[in-house]
Amino acid sequence: MKLLSSPFLVCLTAALSSAFLISPPHMWTKLILTHHWPTTFCSMEHCHPNISYWTLHGLWPDKGIDCNSSWHFNFSEIEDLRPDMVKSWPDLRNSSSAGFWKYEWHKHGTCAAKADSLNSQHKYFSKALELYHKLDLDSILKKFDITPSEKYYTLSQIEGVIENFYRVKPKIQCAHPSKNAGVQTLGQIEICFHSDFTLLDCEKHATVKTFSKGGWDNLMGVDKSSGFSVCDPDTPVYYPPPS
Ligand SMILES: *[C@@H]1O[C@H](CO)[C@@H](O)[C@H](O)[C@H]1NC(C)=O
Ligand SMILES: *[C@@H]1O[C@H](CO)[C@@H](O)[C@H](O)[C@H]1NC(C)=O
Ligand SMILES: *[C@@H]1O[C@H](CO)[C@@H](O)[C@H](O)[C@H]1NC(C)=O
Ligand SMILES: *[C@@H]1O[C@H](CO)[C@@H](O)[C@H](O)[C@H]1NC(C)=O
Repeated sequence: MKLLSSPFLVCLTAALSSAFLISPPHMWTKLILTHHWPTTFCSMEHCHPNISYWTLHGLWPDKGIDCNSSWHFNFSEIEDLRPDMVKSWPDLRNSSSAGFWKYEWHKHGTCAAKADSLNSQHKYFSKALELYHKLDLDSILKKFDITPSEKYYTLSQIEGVIENFYRVKPKIQCAHPSKNAGVQTLGQIEICFHSDFTLLDCEKHATVKTFSKGGWDNLMGVDKSSGFSVCDPDTPVYYPPPS
């Protein structure tokens, strides 16, 4: 009996219950803000976006996919965000379609919405836009001379700029056109946040379950093996100029 009431057990119970309070097992704890480079995306998707800045791909919780299929996307609820959505979070395949936003809402937004801070379509989309503008990744890369170029970068040059500026590790993804091409193409940059929207290191090899065949997060018409994956540190990185 003495053993069961030991301080160790009391501490363990306290630790478990506080861990539960902070993050129930079904709840996400991190958010990933994903940017993509339109030229790279469109070279794979055969689109012609004519956009020469990093655009938003999505705001993804680290846990959960398609969390509430009965919560339908309703563009009227974010009508006031339209100008910013069109500019900052465009559907690169079809700029007059809301299909991309609908897709992101169903897949990721309905999961993010488990937190009070993101529990409406307006809160979810406006927070993603707010974080995107706060980071201003496109300007920071330019400011520190990471610009689209015919010359190649090393991954550490790009990572270095981001880490020095934001003081957290990004996850940088490249397209790998073929196994032995000797070059990889810069495609996506992820920056991670705690649930209180403060910055956090991204885990390079964490596989956020964002893949679904033929979805936005797994490019259509592209063989999985040639889609985006974490850039290789030893292969030169091509940051393609807008065509
Ligand atoms: C791309 O955008 C620029 C500036 O907005 C414009 O001058 C140009 O005509 C556009 N090109 C195409 C192919 O749409
Ligand atoms: C799913 O969304 C609907 C519509 O917004 C809402 O009424 C319902 O409570 C949600 N269900 C869960 C489990 O969150
Ligand atoms: C969509 O949202 C608008 C504005 O909030 C609302 O008036 C309308 O009833 C909603 N439509 C549906 C189908 O829920
Ligand atoms: C683009 O989206 C609009 C609106 O949904 C649709 O009418 C049009 O057919 C789409 N265009 C293409 C090329 O898919």
